[in-house]
Amino acid sequence: MAIPKIVVLTGAGISAESGLATFRAQNGLWEGHNVNDVATYEGYLRDPILVHNFYNMLRNQLQQPTVKPNPAHLSLAELETKLGSDNVTIITQNVDNLHEQAGSKNVLHMHGELLKVRNEKTGQIFDCYQDICYTDNKLIRPHIVWFGEIPLYMEQIYQQLAQADYFIAIGTSGHVYPAAGFVQFANEYGVKTIELNLEPSLKENQFSSKIYGPASQIVPSFVAQLLAELSAD
Ligand code: APR
Repeated sequence: MAIPKIVVLTGAGISAESGLATFRAQNGLWEGHNVNDVATYEGYLRDPILVHNFYNMLRNQLQQPTVKPNPAHLSLAELETKLGSDNVTIITQNVDNLHEQAGSKNVLHMHGELLKVRNEKTGQIFDCYQDICYTDNKLIRPHIVWFGEIPLYMEQIYQQLAQADYFIAIGTSGHVYPAAGFVQFANEYGVKTIELNLEPSLKENQFSSKIYGPASQIVPSFVAQLLAELSAD
């Protein structure tokens, strides 16, 4: 079979059925918290303890034993195993580590990672599984891309998108750029674009195919069908 290059963009919706709240739903994270307070650098300067407490809460939540990869994460890991890491790239806006837990290797965390912190002065990144106490070390901040900050891996991401055969967006509402603009970029490069989401996203009309339903169901069946089509080629 001719192995296609597949770029997958994931958002909070892929982790919803693993027990992690999305941002823009009712009861979502942005309903209970003010974005300007907890997800901007200005908010961090104003009240670093509040911001650390917010990410401490999310870091704790992520490490609860009930929070595990769901069939959507697992099927994407299987896709990478079958087609090879050179052919499957996951770009995730998620700061959880459920793709890695599922076994995916080629994952670009464009919005940072909850289980990492960094030294503001040196830029050095550290693993972090515990609560951070600001007063212990004032230079340590969450390794999270806040609103107004530049997402990570952008050069690599656009390179991957330009070379892709398929661009598959999963569980993202299409509100936040630059990720929301990837579908347009992919279309300009003649990439086949597919949306897999619970409901039509803001960018729905830019995708050439779309499937709606819970990620834990539609992603495994989409992956199985894609693998079947490829092995028939
Ligand atoms: N299966 C599939 N999709 C789902 C599911 C599910 N079980 N549950 C929810 N969704 C969909 C919602 O319909 C919505 O379109 O996932 C999407 C989640 O949207 P958002 O909450 O806006 O999350 P996301 O798109 O990842 O947000 C982007 O915004 O605040 C920032 O940095 C944060 O990375 C985040 C970025």
